Amino acid sequence: MKVLGINGSPRARGNTGRLLAEILHGVSDAGAEVSAVNLSEYTIEGCVGCERCRRDLTCTRRNDGMTLLYPRIVEADALVLGSPVYHYNVTSLMKAFIDRLYAFYDFTDDRPRGYSSRLADRPRKAVVFAVGEQADPADLGVALEALSLPLRPLGYEVVAELPVLNCFEPGVVGKKEGVLEQAYRCGRDLAAGLSGTMVL
Ligand SMILES: Cc1cc2nc3c(=O)[nH]c(=O)nc-3n(C[C@H](O)[C@H](O)[C@H](O)COP(=O)(O)O)c2cc1C
Repeated sequence: MKVLGINGSPRARGNTGRLLAEILHGVSDAGAEVSAVNLSEYTIEGCVGCERCRRDLTCTRRNDGMTLLYPRIVEADALVLGSPVYHYNVTSLMKAFIDRLYAFYDFTDDRPRGYSSRLADRPRKAVVFAVGEQADPADLGVALEALSLPLRPLGYEVVAELPVLNCFEPGVVGKKEGVLEQAYRCGRDLAAGLSGTMVL
């Protein structure tokens, strides 16, 4: 079982990266293979809606970071998507990444178009989390939905949505034992779900 973590923060050593590491730690302790990507280290252009992926079954408009990431997404049994909250939403890095997943859809020719996802070829799971500085969950805005809603029609069962509050300085979440434990459990439960076993 392979789990791919995606860090949508421009700060590689920030709170999102720290939490992602903790979730993946739980995943690997439960026996699955993990890898992680900092989107800030890749150039990922936004989707331009050219629809060339209809014909080519991948994005041939851009030869950028997604060219490297598409095969890793295909081979992963699960994704962990984490983003800082920027203005009640995900970061532009994460939004560009999600929009470029459009290349996995097959559409029919009628209007409105019917669609199916080539990532729905087998059971896939996902965990999403969003990190914000404010204490009120309302200040996370639509970030969690912005992560989870696009994943479902793509073929992922989103098994956990984790809101993380009160984190501003880069890495401060590392001092919040309870949050780290929750993240670790999330990862462990994800791996257990993938292998169909129970973790007691
Ligand atoms: C441009 C920008 C917009 C932000 N908007 C919000 C927000 O709407 N709500 C919130 O709770 N925190 C907001 N924050 C705070 C970040 O979400 C917070 O510092 C987070 O811990 C950053 O994660 P990172 O360390 O992984 O980069 C914003 C920060 C920036 C730079």
